[in-house]
Amino acid sequence: MAVIRLLPTVLINRIAAGEVVERPASAVKELVENAIDAGASRIDVTLRDGGQSLIVVSDNGCGMDRAQLMLAVERHCTSKLPDDDLVRIATLGFRGEALPSIGAVARLTLTSRPPGADQAWSLSIDGGIKGEPMPASHPTGTRVEVRDLFYATPARLKFMKTPRTERDQAIDAVKRLAMAHAAVGFSISDDERVMLRLSAAPLSDPTEERLARLTAILGRDFADNALPIEAERGGLRLSGFAGLPTLNRATQREQYLFVNNRPVRDKLLTGAVRGAYQDFLAGDRHPVVALFLDLPADELDVNVHPAKAEVRFRDPGLVRGLIVSALKHALAAAGHRASTSVSAATLGAFRAASPPAYGFAEAAAAFAPFPRTLDLVTLPAAPAHVSAPTDAGLDDFPLGAARAQLHGTYIVAETADGIVIVDQHAAHERLVYERMKQALADGGVKRQMLLLPEIVELDEGLAQLLADRAPELAELGLVLEKFGTGCVVVREFPVLLGETDIIGLVRDLADEIVELGAAFSLKERLESLCGTLACHGSVRAGRRLNPTEMNALLRQMEATPHSGQCNHGRPTYVELKRSDIERLFGRR
Ligand SMILES: Nc1ncnc2c1ncn2[C@@H]1O[C@H](COP(=O)(O)OP(=O)(O)OP(=O)(O)O)[C@@H](O)[C@H]1O
Ligand SMILES: [Mg+2]
Repeated sequence: MAVIRLLPTVLINRIAAGEVVERPASAVKELVENAIDAGASRIDVTLRDGGQSLIVVSDNGCGMDRAQLMLAVERHCTSKLPDDDLVRIATLGFRGEALPSIGAVARLTLTSRPPGADQAWSLSIDGGIKGEPMPASHPTGTRVEVRDLFYATPARLKFMKTPRTERDQAIDAVKRLAMAHAAVGFSISDDERVMLRLSAAPLSDPTEERLARLTAILGRDFADNALPIEAERGGLRLSGFAGLPTLNRATQREQYLFVNNRPVRDKLLTGAVRGAYQDFLAGDRHPVVALFLDLPADELDVNVHPAKAEVRFRDPGLVRGLIVSALKHALAAAGHRASTSVSAATLGAFRAASPPAYGFAEAAAAFAPFPRTLDLVTLPAAPAHVSAPTDAGLDDFPLGAARAQLHGTYIVAETADGIVIVDQHAAHERLVYERMKQALADGGVKRQMLLLPEIVELDEGLAQLLADRAPELAELGLVLEKFGTGCVVVREFPVLLGETDIIGLVRDLADEIVELGAAFSLKERLESLCGTLACHGSVRAGRRLNPTEMNALLRQMEATPHSGQCNHGRPTYVELKRSDIERLFGRR
């Protein structure tokens, strides 16, 4: 018979530590959370070897007396659930597990003094063995020292990455907490230098205070290119800042999400962010956001994850809806504003040019000669008044009057107070995309019969996949059917797309459908499919445009929502103010 026994406490705590303290950064996170819960206004962190040989977290919070110290390191001992209420949790901690877990796998020393006490006390636990409290000297507050993390659990030690990686993770954990607690000052240092210093600068306006903190952590660039978010629905409130799509990254690492001021990593939330930006960003690019969701305690369960990094919502649909609509709304209101980082970079490039930026005589020489082609099917015939605005009328046209086309790719326009350079392909792609969406919303895309049906070779799996979706694709304007083995034949396609590389389009669509997976309706994914269609239907770079066509493009951009970036998040145009140009030439 197997013997069933209750495990010794040290072992129980080591097992718990396996979940709670995964790496130095998780210990740092737990200790900083304790300091925040203790009401500290200043928290200083020191790391050695990425936190593996030493972590010190000092705070000026409420401290602990001798008796409290003795309890604090015991499992399931917490001061944070005074009413035994697991629903209304107002603190970051509540499980009473962090200190005993850390104490079981490291050498932990707590030194603490509550306000008014005449001395401090110190207590150590070494690999789970608790020492005796000793009188110590320390100002009001608490200092927690963790040495030799995981020395008692060598298996875990093997999973440590380089000190540098561990250090960066720890800094990231502190940054996330610091974003949500702007009134608290933080510092992180190693043996040599201070790696992060955030002063507590409480401001009367909480939005300003938060922006100041976010700027200190994420940089000026974020502040200059972020839209304030503020929305409420059904007792839920979303606030914070969302980066313009042009400020994008290769990973989701710079998406900072908070629920009731707790940093979380949550699929529902990141999915909602992705959904809101999907119109504006390629699938492999990610926006930078710092979003704070506040909701009543009973809408939320925070007790679902040992490291408290995940939460569960009572009404996930409501949460998603609020985030998607708030972000979309803000992005729409931002209209065709591209990020300043783009124009700043442009300006930098101009400045770097030597000899200085080429003069506009060359630009004028490159002025598109008279129309070689007038087959710009997808741009509706330009009405007469679309010809260039007169100089006096420039004020009314933010994108100005087209003056030249350069390299068959860029339209240079003169505005009331500067110049605008438009990427014609990116811009046109955006227009086709928006029009496509509109057409779908208005009840269907106009189709055009191909005189000679186009046969597209794929492999059998892809061909079948497309054939299965034929009725849905027809609604998008693409009529195709299976043809022999591994081929489809395309009979009709969307008028909007003009002259298109049908083979390329069909292959891309097939790839996209594979990627989206089987269990979805194309209707739901219309927007992303529209993106693919639009990309194929847009004026290619290299196509010469005549002045009427160029001006028509500018006017349509002005009239189209979201025209400041193509659906891959690249800007469609950059603007140089006259003052910028004057600076380039040293006139200012
Ligand atoms: N820096 C500190 N200042 C004052 N009291 C502290 C500090 N750190 C811990 N404590 C006290 O020790 C108790 C135990 O801390 P511990 O982190 O183990 O558990 P917790 O914070 O209550 O819950 P969790 O395991 O979810 O973090 C806390 O409830 C708190 O009363
Ligand atoms: Mg805690």
